[in-house]
Amino acid sequence: MSSMVIVGAQWGDEGKGKITDFLAEKADVVVRYQGGNNAGHTVEVGNEQYKLQLIPSGILHSDKLCIIGNGVVLDPEAFLNEVRNLENRGVATANLKISDRAHVIFPYHKKIDELSELKRGSNDLGTTKKGIGPAYMDKTERVGIRVCDLLKKDVFAAKLKENLEAKNSYLKKMFEFEGYSYEEMLEKYLAYAEQIRPYVDDTSVLVYNAIKADKNVLFEGAQGTLLDLDFGTYPYVTSSHPVAGGVCIGAGVGPALIGKAVGVVKAYTTRVGKGPFPTELFDETGEYIRKKGFEFGTVTGRPRRCGWFDAVIVRYAVRISGLTGIAVTKLDTLADIPRVKICVGYKLNGEIIKDFPASIEDLAFCEPIYEEFEGWEDVSHIKEYNKLPTNMLRYLERIEELCGTKISLVSVGPKRDETIVIEEF
Ligand code: IMP
Repeated sequence: MSSMVIVGAQWGDEGKGKITDFLAEKADVVVRYQGGNNAGHTVEVGNEQYKLQLIPSGILHSDKLCIIGNGVVLDPEAFLNEVRNLENRGVATANLKISDRAHVIFPYHKKIDELSELKRGSNDLGTTKKGIGPAYMDKTERVGIRVCDLLKKDVFAAKLKENLEAKNSYLKKMFEFEGYSYEEMLEKYLAYAEQIRPYVDDTSVLVYNAIKADKNVLFEGAQGTLLDLDFGTYPYVTSSHPVAGGVCIGAGVGPALIGKAVGVVKAYTTRVGKGPFPTELFDETGEYIRKKGFEFGTVTGRPRRCGWFDAVIVRYAVRISGLTGIAVTKLDTLADIPRVKICVGYKLNGEIIKDFPASIEDLAFCEPIYEEFEGWEDVSHIKEYNKLPTNMLRYLERIEELCGTKISLVSVGPKRDETIVIEEF
């Protein structure tokens, strides 16, 4: 395996948690490089289901080093809750490390996220309200507080004072919100600091040393390509870089040290939040997919919007992240639909376009061009690729052709053993 990055090739929720957990078996180190607890990775092991938000899916394998990289924004309260929940279920977290360069989320970030969304009214972005955007804003404004600051009492006290004065004034002026007490927040976060201290390290050193020692390092992307700040459906995006390039900055790794990039792709398309979605289904097939695929947000519980597979999107993801293979998930969800469709291109102002447009105003007017395929029955019991129904194989072969990369793995159910490897990674 050596080093490999796993990215979501659509709008997130492609099943990256399951695929990462599956591939983590061969990894020595699993690294999160962007996002925060806005992510929701569901992993099923035996009869147990785990919902991870911040901690890499590799944590479910006791012998892996799991890293929360510098590119992640860390909510200490959410982190400690997740640690506690895992420990209570017998999952050890001793092998977990947090980058000393990661930025910290504070209650004012969450409040600004929530009140800004409210103020936008019907033009809201549909964020998870976890304070992700405002925390990254502070990072780029160069006023953010990092984990290494949090661990130094005097440095932290001074930085918090400065930040809180500015944030309280902003919250008052913009939203008539009274703001937060400095003393209370200082005390609370100093207590968090002591609890997270044992996990903190210079994680880029750990990653570099692992790669140099020929260990297998797996970089686990959260969200997906179309939620990328640069390449997604801006402004309906998250504030980080889920694409493969995000690894270099978010984990402190040079591009030449990343061997492979695998895209996780759902057999259809979903998205939460707002923004144009060309293949969205508003009919009973969309409802069927939502119910059968349990398409409700792991973090927010919101129903996900569902639509047909869009090859324009996945081809785009293949190009932007240089994907060397894709893993197709949730093929079982499409079972028993008599005819399924793949969008092979868009029609915009009478012209056929095959590359994903930058402008969401253009995207909103893109009409999908479909190819239709015969459906298939239940496949969750099938363990070999060539025993999959012929109609499904036709569907998968067409996806490979259209997206310009090979399918390395297919998933036919949520469990670890409902996975068929076509080609070793
Ligand atoms: P934020 O990341 O909370 O700022 O939300 C920005 C956009 O990203 C919204 O449309 C969210 O619904 C979406 N989003 C954030 N995290 C995820 C995820 O893990 N899966 C799917 N969508 C997400």
